This record gives sequence, structure tokens and C-alpha cells, in this order.
Amino acid sequence: MRTLISGGTVVTATEIMQADVLIEDETVVAISAPVEGGRSGTDTTASPDQVIDATGKYVFPGGVDVHTHMELPFGGTYASDTFETGTRAAAFGGTTTLIDFAVQTIGEPMMDGYDEWMAKADGECAIDYGFHMIVSDVNEQTLKEMDILMGEGVTSFKLFMAYPGVLYSTDGQIFQAMQKAADNGATIMMHAENGIVIDVLREQALARGETDPIYHSVTRPPVTEAEATHRAIAYAELAGSPLYVVHLSAKEALDEVVAARDRGANVFAETCPQYLFLGWKNLAEPGFEGAKYVCSTPVRSEDQGHQEALWRGLATNDLQVVSTDHCPFCMNDHPTLGTQKQLGVGDFTKIPNGLPGVEERFTMMYYGAIDQHRLSLNRFVEIIASTPAKMFGLYPKKGTIAIGSDADIVIFDPGTSQTISADTIHMDVDYTCYEGTEVQGKVDTVLSRGRTIIENGEYLGAKGDGQYLKRGTNQCLI
Ligand code: URP
Ligand code: ZN
Ligand code: ZN
Repeated sequence: MRTLISGGTVVTATEIMQADVLIEDETVVAISAPVEGGRSGTDTTASPDQVIDATGKYVFPGGVDVHTHMELPFGGTYASDTFETGTRAAAFGGTTTLIDFAVQTIGEPMMDGYDEWMAKADGECAIDYGFHMIVSDVNEQTLKEMDILMGEGVTSFKLFMAYPGVLYSTDGQIFQAMQKAADNGATIMMHAENGIVIDVLREQALARGETDPIYHSVTRPPVTEAEATHRAIAYAELAGSPLYVVHLSAKEALDEVVAARDRGANVFAETCPQYLFLGWKNLAEPGFEGAKYVCSTPVRSEDQGHQEALWRGLATNDLQVVSTDHCPFCMNDHPTLGTQKQLGVGDFTKIPNGLPGVEERFTMMYYGAIDQHRLSLNRFVEIIASTPAKMFGLYPKKGTIAIGSDADIVIFDPGTSQTISADTIHMDVDYTCYEGTEVQGKVDTVLSRGRTIIENGEYLGAKGDGQYLKRGTNQCLI
């Protein structure tokens, strides 16, 4: 099967070119200057089976979202998107690869968690996917299992300095996992918040009768993120392991990352659209509406310069990746999962942490980068596709358009406008955080390994099309 994408503007992290892209089966086989009269210069002997006209449109690599939580058990319920619904919604939004998190249960082997998550995703996904491993219980066996998982293509391990009693690891456990990573080439991903201090602040707030959603952020002040980020960096430098700080939201935490990178340390960080676009005005929406935006790290006050610092960090490469931390919970009762966000009515500490975003990331980042003139087209591609693929060992199979790359491609129409609305999303959740945002530009057609899976607003794929990705190690190391 030969598909020609003709007449478009191909954009990668390094190029912007008028070019035709020829795909054979699942792979890009040629990129060439278009020839007068519409005939591609890629091949003079054989005509394609299919031509996709991309005239006037951008031809981007498919998005790579390296932080999602389909079906995650959290706060007494489960994230409402399954691997089926969440990966299909991702495809609608222009994301063709995601990396989710398998979870170790405390007291149980890590391999059991890996097997469980592999089974959940198997045969369900619309797009290609991989796993990081959440390490909930660092012990002698876990450390050995980190080596085994590296062989399975799980080359990154997330630890938590937050959520005491749930996913939290002690400093000693974290340091041991980092020493193992230094030895076997893994990347340590860190949820960097001082959960012990945060728990004290939460109890004190509740005792004062401060129960509304906004207190979720008030009781997780920037210093609790910055301190934990500093500590994680110190341990990673001592152990000699790469460190990737997840969902960074506070400018003070970014300062810690910048200082480490200036020292030449292998320290990296992602932020997420919610921290670039949302703030306390959202958390303070009337009634219980603010619960929509409860996630950790929290969205921050607009008055303290966090958003500006994050955008600057993206421009300067102090921040390297934008992921979503997609972890949706419904505001109204979910048909099968029941009460979700409402678990926290009258007590913000019981609101399940997390929000939806896997479908809007590509579009919202285009909106912030291009419509709002904050970043170049190349940098847009770099932060939503190329660097995420490199960071987690998938490049150049994923994250670019190059000869030999998987034909994961988004044809994006800058000439069509759209208004983001809960009425048109495909995620299994009853709201979008970006309701009413008017975006100049729209995902038009999406190809996953050469197959057109989104066209004219229709999903043309089938569950199970997505394949498991065995990943290599971090390709961003200094
Ligand atoms: O609020 C969040 N981020 N929920 C998902 C779990 C995590 O910490 O990533
Ligand atoms: Zn986290
Ligand atoms: Zn997360």
C-alpha cells in the first residue's frame, strides 16, 4: 500500500518544507519537493494507491504524549478513560503515541503490576503505546525487577515524594532506585512535591473550615514543589542517574531544574497545558466547579508569574516536553464508575486528583505556541513530539517525519477555526478544562503507521490497532 501526502507543508523539529511524503505500508519511504502538475518527484515509476491532498495544510509528526493514566485507580475511584476510549480520544486530538504508567501495588511484585497493565491495554488501543513503571515499594526484589523491566522496554520508573501512605517513597527508597537507574540506564521520573508537609497543611486547612477546591492549591504552595525538586535533583546527581521531573508547575521548581542543567546534570522536566493555561480563577469557579481543575502538582495563582516562567522555559529549552498527565474524573456520576469528583464535596482532600487533556494537548499547544505567537512551529513539534520520543527511547521511529520513521502523521489545517467544547470531545469525561477556547487551526487527518485513523471528524480505526512499544533508553543525555 502506497500513500502519498501531497502539497502540504511538512514541519519537523528542524525543517519547514513544501514537500510530498510517500508512505509504503507503515513507513515513510520518501520526502521530496512537489513536482509541477501535482505529480510527486518521489517516484517516477509507480503511482500511489492513495493520494491525500494536504494543500494549504501542515503535515506534522503525530503527537507523543508521555504521561497519561488510563483506568488509574485513584482516590477511591478509577480514571474514567479506558485504554480504548482514551487512546481513541488521543487519536482525534492528533496524538499517535502515548506512554502510560503501570502501577506496582505496595507489598506485591512490580512484575505483577506490569503484567496487569499490559493485560488492560492489550487489544484495546487505537494508537501505539508504551509503559513507564510506577514504583510504590522499593525493596530488594523491586530493584532486581527494574533490571527485568528494562529488558521488556520499560526504561523509566516514576517515584512519588507526594501522597504519603499511597504511592509515597522515602528519601532512602528514592535514592536506592536512583542508584539502580545509574547502573542499568533507566530514567527516574519524579513526582516532586513534599507530601509530608502538604499533609500537615491540608489537615490545618480543614480544621479551619477551608474545604473548597481552591484550598487544594493553597495547601500545596510552590515551595513544597521547589524543595522536593531540589532534593530529587541532589539525590539524582549523587547517584548519577538521569532525572525527569514530571508535571512541573511552579517557577521556583523550574529554577531548580535550570540550576541543575547549568551544572551539566542530566536533569529534564515536562510541564502540561493545565499549568500554561489554567489558574486560581478556574479553581475558584462558583459552587464545586473548581474541582474540575484539581490535580497535583496544582494549577497555580496567575499573579505569581508561573505561567510566564513556564512559557519562557519552553522557549529556552529549560523545559523540554509538554505532556498531559491525562487522568480524568467526571463531575457528574459516571455511568459505571459512579461518583468521582463529587467525592470531595465539602472536603477538597477527597477530590480525586487529575484532569482530562489527552485530546486537547496538540491543539491547545498549537494555540499557545502559534496562535498566541509564543513559540515557533519547529519548537511546537519539538516539545509535543520529537523530544518526548527522544526522552523515552522512541526516536526516530516516533516523533518525526523522516525516511524510515513510522508514518504517524497529523495533517493540520491552519485555515479552519474551532471552539473547544465538552459537546465535541471524545474522552470519556463530562467536561473539558478549555471550554470555549477559540483556536485558529484544527486537526484534519491522522495517520497511525500509514493507516488513516481520523478523517472528516470520523474514527476509521479499530481497537487493538495500537501496538505495544518496547522502548530504548533516554536519547537526551548529555
Ligand atoms: O493529579 C494527578 N496528577 N493525578 C495523577 C497522578 C499523578 O500524580 O500523576
Ligand atoms: Zn504525579
Ligand atoms: Zn501523572
